[in-house]
Amino acid sequence: MLLLGANGFIGINMLRALLDDDRVEGVTVLVRAKTSRGIRDRVLATARRFHVTLPNVHKLVVLEGDYTQPDFGLAPADYGQLQRAIGAVVHAAGSTLYAPYLHHRGQGLVPMLRLIEFCLEGRVKRLEVIGSAASAAFTRRRDFFKFDLFHSGYPRNKWVTHQVAVEAHRRGVPVTMCLAPYVMGGPKTDFHDPGGRYIAYRMYSYLREIGKIYDSDVQLPCAPADCVADAVVENLFSPDPRTVYYPYMPFTARDAARLFGWQPVPMPEFIAALRRTYPLNSPGRLRTLLKPSAATQLQIKRALILRTLLNRRNEQALRTSVEHLLEIGRPVTLPGDMTPSDVIAACMRTNAPRSDKHLTRDITSPAEPQPKFVGIRP
Ligand SMILES: NC(=O)c1ccc[n+]([C@@H]2O[C@H](COP(=O)([O-])OP(=O)(O)OC[C@H]3O[C@@H](n4cnc5c(N)ncnc54)[C@H](OP(=O)(O)O)[C@@H]3O)[C@@H](O)[C@H]2O)c1
Repeated sequence: MLLLGANGFIGINMLRALLDDDRVEGVTVLVRAKTSRGIRDRVLATARRFHVTLPNVHKLVVLEGDYTQPDFGLAPADYGQLQRAIGAVVHAAGSTLYAPYLHHRGQGLVPMLRLIEFCLEGRVKRLEVIGSAASAAFTRRRDFFKFDLFHSGYPRNKWVTHQVAVEAHRRGVPVTMCLAPYVMGGPKTDFHDPGGRYIAYRMYSYLREIGKIYDSDVQLPCAPADCVADAVVENLFSPDPRTVYYPYMPFTARDAARLFGWQPVPMPEFIAALRRTYPLNSPGRLRTLLKPSAATQLQIKRALILRTLLNRRNEQALRTSVEHLLEIGRPVTLPGDMTPSDVIAACMRTNAPRSDKHLTRDITSPAEPQPKFVGIRP
């Protein structure tokens, strides 16, 4: 098995799921050497950061490489060896920056085409790609002329790679794609995730500020990382794999209102409340809003989030794209009697603790006690 992106949040959860599976003989991960820290140490540090316990580490091989480079940046002999030895590839790498489409084309689409070639050379390999539910935002031609959070360079690239995967599959390439929703912390890893870096947390913080949400039963796409990783492994080994699938946790805007104690209001009232709190045309107020972070990325993200929230047509856009997703969706299995609201509450407590007081009820404990040990398990 070759895993790309093991150093990322989804990738490290994938690594746990793959190492844990008896059908997987070995996992080779391709990691960039970014710091003076060794490449294996980088993977182990990521596992510690997200409270992921890696089982059966004797099955893990860490190689230095870059999947965006020809031959993954490996020496020809090493690349040839991979071509012959690998039976399946899980692609969980990629840029998550809010950058123009051309950036994502170079980081996403072009390397994926090379990856498809790799899977057809030497020995034919199964390719399982982590795509994004964001690709479902494009359902009509006019969607390509919009510019907001749902239609920026990132989801554009996800839409194109989605189409390429479907077409490649139609032409006989053994490629399948998981359209991941917002992937948050999960019960197997004490709910740790990248926290404030995530748009979901930022959206929740804006809603918390106004104490309102639009009254709707529209699904808010999200799922725990460990459950998504298990769903990917299941599809990988299925005798009848799904070409494109969407693992999700059924969680609606109304569930969010109940969980956080927000007042569900009609869309116009919600937008008016947001505008009062975040008047985008007031530079002073906008500066205050942007102040906590100097990082341009965060500023762009914030502006995009607000622009998206303030657009009343986006509720319909979200509904249309979620309807598309639900056609290929399968709810993930949560442990015991845990509900999606319990997972969201636990994630908020763990990764955005200042939101704690806004939760309206306690979470249910997971049925199975979680291991306290964090790091490598031989
Ligand atoms: N997280 C979500 O909620 C979510 C939802 C839907 C889809 N996705 C998709 O899932 C994938 C992984 O997301 P994530 O949240 O796990 O992102 P992440 O935490 O930022 O991790 C991205 C991973 O990709 C690797 N990577 C990026 N460019 C690379 C390159 N040129 N060569 C080698 N490795 C490279 C990174 O390696 P370094 O550590 O070396 O930078 C890192 O391991 C992305 O394609 C993302 O779009 C994520």
